[in-house]
Amino acid sequence: MTFTIYESTRVWTRTWALPADNQAPRRARQHLDRVLPAVTCPDETTAQLQLLVSELVTNALQAHAAAPAAPLAGAGPELWVGLPPEHQELTLAVFDGCPGHLPRLADQRPCELAESGRGLAIVEALTRGRWGVQRASSQCSPTPLAGKIVWAIPHVPALAAS
Ligand SMILES: Nc1ncnc2c1ncn2[C@@H]1O[C@H](COP(=O)(O)OP(=O)(O)OP(=O)(O)O)[C@@H](O)[C@H]1O
Ligand SMILES: [Mg+2]
Repeated sequence: MTFTIYESTRVWTRTWALPADNQAPRRARQHLDRVLPAVTCPDETTAQLQLLVSELVTNALQAHAAAPAAPLAGAGPELWVGLPPEHQELTLAVFDGCPGHLPRLADQRPCELAESGRGLAIVEALTRGRWGVQRASSQCSPTPLAGKIVWAIPHVPALAAS
């Protein structure tokens, strides 16, 4: 799979470093909770956004675990949120320091007994295909760290400023 070119130049409103362990999905959900009150967001939408972020962060953790430890130096994934001033479109991205490992959507749905392979299908469904991968540099590391983001533009009812 080739890297998808991120479809526009976005300003990241907030970025957070996440732990390099299984606390990361929880922390990402907490950070998102602090952003969402800025917009009118039904409970169901909030739950979908939390699910989306959880899947992306879990994948990033797994990518880190599979990568050689040295280049990452214990760094965890990062959550990046883009929310334009008019709140018209929310963009979520999760950075990981593993530029060589590329996610791709499976050609076929996993069989019902498969234990894995559903996360990106959830991302695909919740974004209606508006997600992709792009090389990126850490926004949170004190030293330069190359990696990638998996970005997603959730398909949610029009967001409105609270
Ligand atoms: N951030 C990432 N970096 C590298 N590879 C990734 C990343 N995200 C996903 N992948 C790759 O894409 C595959 C499919 O991801 P997906 O989330 O659909 O399934 P899974 O993580 O294997 O299982 P599940 O999410 O159902 O527990 C992964 O197995 C992994 O190989
Ligand atoms: Mg997954």
